[in-house]
Amino acid sequence: MAENADLVVLERSEDTSVTVHLHGATVTSWKCGGQEMIFVSKQAVYDNKKAIRGGIPVVFPNFGPWDLGPQHGFARISRWTLSQSPTKDSNGDVSAVLALEDTDNTRKMWNHKFKVTYTLTLKQCEFQMDFAVENTGPDEFDFTCLLHTYFHVPDVTKTTISGLKGLQYSDKVRDGQTFTEDRDLVSLAENYDRVYINTPPDHTISNVTAGKNILLKKSNFPDTVVWNPWMEKAKAMSDFGDDEYPNMLCVEAGYVTSRYKLSPSDKFEASQTLTVTQ
Ligand code: BG6
Repeated sequence: MAENADLVVLERSEDTSVTVHLHGATVTSWKCGGQEMIFVSKQAVYDNKKAIRGGIPVVFPNFGPWDLGPQHGFARISRWTLSQSPTKDSNGDVSAVLALEDTDNTRKMWNHKFKVTYTLTLKQCEFQMDFAVENTGPDEFDFTCLLHTYFHVPDVTKTTISGLKGLQYSDKVRDGQTFTEDRDLVSLAENYDRVYINTPPDHTISNVTAGKNILLKKSNFPDTVVWNPWMEKAKAMSDFGDDEYPNMLCVEAGYVTSRYKLSPSDKFEASQTLTVTQ
């Protein structure tokens, strides 16, 4: 397990909390009414080097394989700073702010100056993540980004995702070919890695922990990635248990199909809110 100094806990009440690891600003737990909504592998490695397998890793400045640096960028393997400790407002809601700025190490890979601000707000059965990127340097840069949410599910074959019908997707297990989704509610029962393009602002994910539904609301994240490695790929991953794939589903809100161009002094803002609806 992680050292305590690495962890920041937002506690709304005894049974409602969020835990975030400063390595990668990776949310490793969201408990609502005592129930854990987020999946983290039992084999996740907490060495402050490797990305944590599970939770909500932050993908920036690149989604997927990257010529200039590691897969999914460096944000998920960088040490973030806590710029605002957990603070409770008059409604009892708790927020904290994490930040990541360029360093010698990030500039060696990607020679740009930036500041990423990640604000976490925990409400009653609702968890909001506000993600912002500022260009603090003299040149324009471009990036992709995504919140790589691993939901904990009792049985992935019984979980469905709404809001994808009629949309185009790039299927990464079929050489990135583009298809059109024809199902109202998407469910999966195989190795699944699809980037749905121009998705609506809401998805309902059914049958998450204890059969609950989660409403995923997003803003300025135009794409939705759905991923489960299934049996064979799970076996090939050293930080993921062979028998864990039925208990996780990644539904990832991102800006990934095109690269966002950010001018000097400009700011990109996007957000995701997860609400337990029943
Ligand atoms: C998903 C990608 O977002 O992340 C998949 O679409 C990838 O292609 C998965 O396999 C996990 O990536 P990683 O780098 O954490 O093993």
